[in-house]
This record gives sequence, structure tokens and C-alpha cells, in this order.
Amino acid sequence: MCGIVGYIGYRQAQPVLLNCLSKLEYRGYDSCGIAVNNGHLRGFKDAVRVEALKAELPSLEGSLGIGHTRWATHGKPTAINAHPHFDCTGKVAVVHNGIISNFEELRLHLLKEGHTFVSDTDTEVIPHLIEKYYQGDPIGAFQTALTRLEGSFAIAVLFEKYDKLLVSRRESPLVVGIGDNETVIASDVPALLEYVDNVIYLEDGDTAVISKDGVLIEQNGAAADRTVHHVNWDRSKVEKNGYDHFLIKEIHEQPDVIKDSLSGFFGSQEEEKDSLIDSNLSGLTMLGCGTSYNACLVGKYIFEELLGIPVRVESASEFMQRGRIISSPVVIGLTQSGETADVLLSLKRLKKPQVKILVITNVPGSTASRIADQVIYTAAGPEMSVAASKSYMAQLIELFKMAFTSKLLDTATRERLLKEFRSLNVIVQRVLETEREIAECANILARSSTAFYVGRGINYPTALEGALKLKEISYIHAEGYAAGELKHGPLALLDEKTPVVALVTPEEVYGSMVSTVKEIKARGSPVIALADERDDSIASIADFVIKLPHTSGIFAPVVNVVALQLLAYYAAKFRGCPIDFPRNLAKSVTVV
Ligand code: G6P
Repeated sequence: MCGIVGYIGYRQAQPVLLNCLSKLEYRGYDSCGIAVNNGHLRGFKDAVRVEALKAELPSLEGSLGIGHTRWATHGKPTAINAHPHFDCTGKVAVVHNGIISNFEELRLHLLKEGHTFVSDTDTEVIPHLIEKYYQGDPIGAFQTALTRLEGSFAIAVLFEKYDKLLVSRRESPLVVGIGDNETVIASDVPALLEYVDNVIYLEDGDTAVISKDGVLIEQNGAAADRTVHHVNWDRSKVEKNGYDHFLIKEIHEQPDVIKDSLSGFFGSQEEEKDSLIDSNLSGLTMLGCGTSYNACLVGKYIFEELLGIPVRVESASEFMQRGRIISSPVVIGLTQSGETADVLLSLKRLKKPQVKILVITNVPGSTASRIADQVIYTAAGPEMSVAASKSYMAQLIELFKMAFTSKLLDTATRERLLKEFRSLNVIVQRVLETEREIAECANILARSSTAFYVGRGINYPTALEGALKLKEISYIHAEGYAAGELKHGPLALLDEKTPVVALVTPEEVYGSMVSTVKEIKARGSPVIALADERDDSIASIADFVIKLPHTSGIFAPVVNVVALQLLAYYAAKFRGCPIDFPRNLAKSVTVV
């Protein structure tokens, strides 16, 4: 779970590599490094963030180079373990994202043959293998070395006195950005946007030889034609544009994300559509990880409530461990990045002729999108903060759209809900306007070491997501709980030092939520209630009330989650946490 980049073209490589790496820090930022080839190969790396590396770096002249930002898996985050890694002669430099699962065996062989290793990483076997097979032909040596590797990788290689960049991928993502007289490669598209609009997503097993004249892609020894995709993401979305953090900027982008997600939807939803969730569907399985998993849980409520389809939700990291796989006829995989290893492995295990796989992802051409039988792209645009916000919103909107276009939904309900659905962006904008009040409540959380989030029904997944956000970015221990389950254990933990965030929205669960709040108050815990603006009575029970715009119960997840994102953001800010880059976390988890 690291980010790799490479450049060949007419510019100096060093500033391009550093700029691209800074856009990939969400994938890891324990340490980083670059190597530049100017006939002579020079590398520089350290256990620091990209910004600090910039300050330390001498000028490495040359217009061909590679770079890496690391999230440690094998070996501690030290300067020695940082990439690039070199062979014994210093003439081969390698950056790698993924895990070489047979590295111990390879390392032992190479040690016996006299190679010297300096790091604890799995990656270091790659330059030594290339060195071993090198007999004057860099491409041949690279390809032979690849045949010895097991596991997952995206690799970029430089050879001294060789004016080409060699890359390959298996399971880990790798994108080749095609510019005018320049090529930039990276683990993910946001890193490239400043330089190119057109990209090729390499397929598993592809090897590419990149020179100043262009890109040659091969698969199993034969030339491979790959589609060039035009990326129309807005470049300003990968900058903070005056906000302190990407996260708060992305939270504020949500009204626009809703608008973009709904663009073209109204007017077309009445049309007959070939939807996977129509026609005698006996059941659905939904799976994802982290925030995407929580979106699946909301999806379960939406589909079961509105369409009456039984939905099973699986956490992909658990599902892929199962001995026996029992599938529904339709599987929906949710993944912002489209590269989460647990999701990919689960989808691959599920892929059978009798199972239709629908992937909802934010990244065009991502691996998940290529596994799927059908893909829905979310309209979140590039999400830079490690903690997800707008991509979750975009996922929810797509799930609603699916439900609203299903023939299983009765017309009266559809018409009633569509009116509100149309104005959700305005409603979310109104939640954002309560930012100051929410920030005040965040102060209480910031002073606590633990907190509970409780909700019922469709708000239960939102409680999980709110707690996850707080944990991720503020490092405060938080648990999301089904409100009715509190009395089966967690009540024992409640005291005046344990704030509870209660999602007290109207409709069916209102009465039972009020009882829960009373139960909590009886234990002395401060309660922050998220309530409907029309609710005048909750203020007499809860300690703090965040009043939110009125919506139908089914849309409560959209409104509530924005308030919880802000709550987590301000709690983390009060505690001085590195909000966009929480410790030990990475945005895209490409290892299992
Ligand atoms: C990581 C990120 C989370 C994200 C999860 C799933 O843990 O830090 O923010 O929700 O991966 O990612 P995906 O790209 O599959 O949605």
C-alpha cells in the first residue's frame, strides 16, 4: 500500500516526481524517495514526508525518473527501507507497490549467489533479480525477473545508461498518463492530472516499455492494445483551494457531488431500464470495506424498505476468508478506489456465469470496474483525504437512484420521494451552514477519550460511519452501536466522561430513540442529539442538540452523515491531528 510514480519527457523529472508523490501521500507517507537517470543513476530517500524530502534533496538533473511514497508492510519505516531500492552495482533502481510473497525464498537464493541486501523489504529482491538476469538487455532481464515474482506488484525500473522506463503490474494498480512528448506513470489518476488528461489503465500481467517516443505494452510476450481513457476530472479538486484540509473541502463539496450525481437523472428515470435489481430477483449481496461497507449497510435498508428484496451485507475482508461461498444472483461491490484488495479478491471469488457483479466505484478503469459485469461510476471526483466523505455521499446517491429506477418501487412512493431527492443538495447545504454549532459540540468530543454513536434502523449504519470517522481522524476511541443493543452490554461503560451521539430522527424509530436517550441520561453521559429541526422536545432531554433540516426517514443517512463528518473533523482539529493523513491509515488498501 504505497504510491509509485515515474516520468519521462522534456521536463526535469525531479519536480514532477515530487509533485506527483505529494498527490499520492494518501496511499502512504512513512517515507519516500526518488531516483533520476541522466545516463548516471542517482537516488535519494528518507523516512520523511514528501514536503520534507523536497527540502533535503540535492538537484538531481535528468528528465527520466521514478519515485515512491511508502506505507510500511515489510520492514520498519526507515530511510534504508524507503524506495527506490538498488541492486549490488547501483545500476538498477526499483520502486514497488504490493507484496512479493515469495521474497524470503528469493532472498535466500540471491544471498547464496553473493548478492548483498541492505534493507528488510520484500522489494529489494527485485533489483537483485534483475541484476542476476542482466546480460546487456534490460527488457529481457526485467521480464525474466518478473517470472520469478509471486504476489502483487506495480513496479517501475530504471537502468543506468538506458533511456527508457520499464513498468509492470499484477494486482496492484498502475496508470500510464499520456501527454504531449511526455509520459507520467502513477498508482492512481489524481497524481497525474496536472500533466495529462489521457490515461491507460494497465491490465494484470502487462509490461510497458516507455520511451520518449511512446509506450509499448506487452502481455505474455505479445503486443497488447489498451484503451486510452480521457479523464475529465477537475484539476482544482486535487488542490486544497484555501481550505485547511482536503477533508473539510471534500465535506463542503457534497452539495455539488449530489448535483453531479443527479445530473441527467430526472427525466430519464421513468424510462425502461435494464436494471439488475428488477425481474424476479431473489436476493442481493452487497460488500465493501470501511466506509464503503457502511454505505452497503445503508443500501440494505434502502433496498429492503423500498423494494422488498432481501439483502445480505458482507464485509469484504471477512467474506474473502470464507471456505464456502454462497452467493446471491446479483452482487454489488462498493469501493471508492476500485482497488481495495479484499474487495477485489471477494469479487473474483464470486465471479461465475450465474452471478452478475455490479461495481459502484469512483475510479474509471479501476481493477474492480474491470472485474464487474456492470459498473456505475460515482460522481465524487478525486477524493484526496484518507478518510472518505464525498465518495460515501456519492455512493448513497447511486443506491437511491438504483432503487428509484427499479420497477419494484410503487409509483406513489417513488413520486413522493423523488420530490425530496431532487432537492437533497440544498438540504445538505443547509447542514453545512450549521458548521459553527457542530464545531462547538465537537469540543466536547475532543476532550473525551471515548464516545458512543447510537442509531436505529436506517440510522444505525450512520452511527457506525460517524464513529469510524471520529476514530480515523481524531484517534478518539468511538463505537457505533445499534441503540437497542446498548442495554445488552455497553451501558456498563457509560458515565459522565463518555459522550454519546444519538441520531434521533423522526418517523418509526423516534419513540424508541427518545427512550434510549433517557436511558443514557440516567447513567450521566452527556448526549449530543442529532434531531429534526421540527423537534422541540428533544432539547429537554439531551445536553446538546444539532438541529438538522427535515427529511423523510429514508434520506436521514444523507443529512446525518454530513453532521457527523463535521463533528469528527472539528474534534480532530481541536486535538491538532494530521487530519488528511491519519497515522497508520492509507486511502487505498491494496494488501489483504
Ligand atoms: C481504507 C480507507 C477508507 C475506505 C476503505 C475502503 O481503509 O482509509 O476510507 O473506506 O479503505 O476503500 P474503498 O476504496 O474500497 O472504498
